[in-house]
Amino acid sequence: MKELLLLQSRIQELTAENEQLKQILAMGNTLCMERNMEKMLPLMMKEISSLLDADRSTLFLMDWERRQLWTKFAEGMDSDRIHIELKMGLVGLCVLTKKIVNVAYAYNSPYFNAEIDEQTGFRTESVLCAPIFDQKQEIIGTLEFINKRSGVFTREDEEKVTRFADGISAYNYSQIPDMKRIKVEIRAFRDELKCERCALFFLNRENGEIRSAFADAIEGWDILLNLNLGIAGLVALTAEGIIIPDAYEDSRFNRSVDEQTGYRTRCLLCVPLKTLSGEILGVIEVMNKKNGVFTTADMDHLKSLSSYLSMFLENAILFNEQTRQFQSVLEVLAASIDAKDSLTAGHSSRVAQYTVGIASELGFNEDDIDTLNVAALLHDYGKLGTDDQILKKQGRLTPEEYEHIKQHVVNTRNILNKMTFSRKFKTVPLLASMHHERLDGSGYTEGLTSADIPFMARIIAVADVFESLTTNRHYHNPLSIEEAFHILDQDTGTKYDGNVVCALKSYYKEIIPKSVS
Ligand SMILES: [Fe+2]
Repeated sequence: MKELLLLQSRIQELTAENEQLKQILAMGNTLCMERNMEKMLPLMMKEISSLLDADRSTLFLMDWERRQLWTKFAEGMDSDRIHIELKMGLVGLCVLTKKIVNVAYAYNSPYFNAEIDEQTGFRTESVLCAPIFDQKQEIIGTLEFINKRSGVFTREDEEKVTRFADGISAYNYSQIPDMKRIKVEIRAFRDELKCERCALFFLNRENGEIRSAFADAIEGWDILLNLNLGIAGLVALTAEGIIIPDAYEDSRFNRSVDEQTGYRTRCLLCVPLKTLSGEILGVIEVMNKKNGVFTTADMDHLKSLSSYLSMFLENAILFNEQTRQFQSVLEVLAASIDAKDSLTAGHSSRVAQYTVGIASELGFNEDDIDTLNVAALLHDYGKLGTDDQILKKQGRLTPEEYEHIKQHVVNTRNILNKMTFSRKFKTVPLLASMHHERLDGSGYTEGLTSADIPFMARIIAVADVFESLTTNRHYHNPLSIEEAFHILDQDTGTKYDGNVVCALKSYYKEIIPKSVS
C-alpha cells in the first residue's frame, strides 16, 4: 500500500514536470513564431520596400495543397488576407519559373492578371517579384513589389530583392548568426556608397567593451575597444547614429586603431545594431566616403540595413537560446532517468552516442541525426514509472514483473506524446517507443515486424542492446565487445537490421579507439 502511494505520488510529480516542460516548449515555439512572422516580417518588408522606393509590397506564402498563394503581409491594402491561384499572374509566374520577374509595365505582359486591380481600383504599373526558397531550395513563397515611384525596377533592385528573399529564408531557418552573409550585406552597402572601409562591432555590456566581428583590411585582427572611448563605443552607449565629417578634428574620435594599423580615418558614419525591443547588439561603421562626407540620407540608408541585420541576428540568437534551452531540458530528463538507477547511469547518453555514430556511418542528414539523438536520449524515460524493486531485481523476473518492465515503453510513448516537439522532432515519441521491437515480431510492446519498424527505430534498438550487453546490469556482468557483436551477429536479420549492425561495427572500430587513445 505504501509503495502504491509512493508510486502514485511519483506519477503525479512526473505529470507536473511534463506539464511544465510542455509549457516551456510551447512558450518557446509561440515566441519564435510570433517574432518570426507577426512582428519581424512586416518591419523587414517595409525596410526593403522603402529601399526599392516601391508603392506596395506583398509577401505571399505557398499553399501547395490548394495550389494557392496567400498573403502574409500586404502593404497598402485594406484586406490583409487574400489569396491568388498559383497558375495566375506575375506572382504565379515567379513561383513556377523559380526566377525573378521584373516587368516595366504590367498591362503589356501576357501573364499579368488585372483582377485584383479591377476589384481594388488600384492601377499596377511596374512589378518586381522574387521567389523565396527554403533550405531544400523548394519555393515557399514570393515577394512582390509594385510601382517604383522613381521609374522602373532596375537590375540593382533585382539584386537587392534577391538578397532580401535569401535573407528571409536564412532568417527563418538560421540557427547561428551567419557572419559571412552579414559581411556581404555590409560590404555591399560600403561599395554602393563608395566608401573605403566598413566594420562591425558587437557589444559586451557586462565587460564594458565592444569587440570587432569583422573589420576591412585587418581581417583576423581582434579589435577590443573600451566602451567609453571612441565613436563606436559612444554609438553603442547612446543608441544614436553619428556622422563625423573630419575624424581628427573631433575629440570624440579615438585614434588608437589608426595608430596600430597605419590607416588614416578621414570621415566616419556609425549606427547602432538595435533589436525591436531596443537592445543594442553592436554597431556598424563605414569610413572614408570617396566623394565627400556622409549625409543624413546615408545615415538613414545604413539604419535601414542595420535594423534588418539586427532582426536577422536577434532571430539567430533566439534560435541559439532555444536550442540551448532544449538541450538543457534534455539533459535534465536524461539525468532524472540516471537518478532512478545508479547502476545503469549514463545508459541513455551512451545509447544516444551509439545511435548518432551509427546514423553518421549510414550517411543520415543532420536533421535526422538530431531527431535520433533526442529519441535515443529519451527512449527509457518511461522507466521513471517502473517499480524500483523490479527494475533492480537480480534474479529471474516473474511473468508479471516482466509485463511491468515492458510497460516502460508505453510510459515513454505516453509521456513524450504529451510534449510539444517542434518540426524535426515530431517523430521522437514514435521512434523512442519502438526500441524493443524486433524484426521478426518477437519484441514488445506492439510485436511489430520489419515492415512496420522504421529504419531509424531499428538504429536505436541496436544501440540500446549493444550498450546493455557491454555494461553492468543487475542481471549480468558486462560482456566484451567481441561477445556483444557475436550476439548481435547471431540475431542479425531475425531481430536486428544487418545494415545497422554493420554500421555499429564500423563506427566502433573507427571512432571508439580514437577517443580512447
Ligand atoms: Fe528500454
